[in-house]
Amino acid sequence: MISLDSISKSVREPNGQVRSIFEDLRFTLADDDRSVAVLGRSGSGKSTLLRILSGLDLEYSGVHTFVGSRLPRRRGDLARYRRDHIGVVTQSYDLLSDRTALANVQLGCPQRSGSAALARRALGLVGAGHLASRRAARLSGGEAQRVAIARAVVGRPAVVLADEPTGALDEETELDVLQLFDDLQSTGMRFVIATHSSRVAERCSRRVLIRDRRLVDLA
Ligand SMILES: Nc1ncnc2c1ncn2[C@@H]1O[C@H](COP(=O)(O)OP(=O)(O)OP(=O)(O)O)[C@@H](O)[C@H]1O
Ligand SMILES: [Mg+2]
Repeated sequence: MISLDSISKSVREPNGQVRSIFEDLRFTLADDDRSVAVLGRSGSGKSTLLRILSGLDLEYSGVHTFVGSRLPRRRGDLARYRRDHIGVVTQSYDLLSDRTALANVQLGCPQRSGSAALARRALGLVGAGHLASRRAARLSGGEAQRVAIARAVVGRPAVVLADEPTGALDEETELDVLQLFDDLQSTGMRFVIATHSSRVAERCSRRVLIRDRRLVDLA
């Protein structure tokens, strides 16, 4: 479904030095990969990898394809790719702080019409129905994280790219979210999840590790 080929990427350190994070990295999300856990030490590049997959980070060399076509580079086409096919949960949630939880989730709906009802339903699925009219600035970390998950899945994207999506949740809520992800996988939604949680990694159908600037499959 998604494929990265020969990806190399460097970043510039605050002191001006250039450091390579990926070198000839390859990754394929096959149609039958229901969920892939991306593991690796802090700073190894998990968030960077998800940003590349989502089309947010275009500063790399190599080839990114989605369903056999190269990722478009034109702004409008790229926005369409992100809107129509990809759901994203970022590590910092990125909610609009002065908007309500409901309005934030509605932003994940490709169509305006009917979005309020869909967004309410998605909030219910993550146990945040009671927070619909709360401004995002007034949500706790775990509440904000669940709203961000609702926003990522509400449009029923083909692929959800989730960066530490349960990092702010207690164990019970994490298990609820993992159950929701399982349910969505059985409807065809695919997940790539960067995580430090062994519980999350164990639930995924495949585990990959960023090591020495490349991805290796784990058993
Ligand atoms: N915009 C940037 N400019 C310079 N360096 C960056 C930038 N973004 C990330 N980096 C560096 O790239 C490396 C990979 O960062 P990334 O955030 O992808 O790691 P990570 O595996 O997600 O870490 P964590 O587990 O802590 O979330 C880090 O060394 C980070 O300091
Ligand atoms: Mg990260």
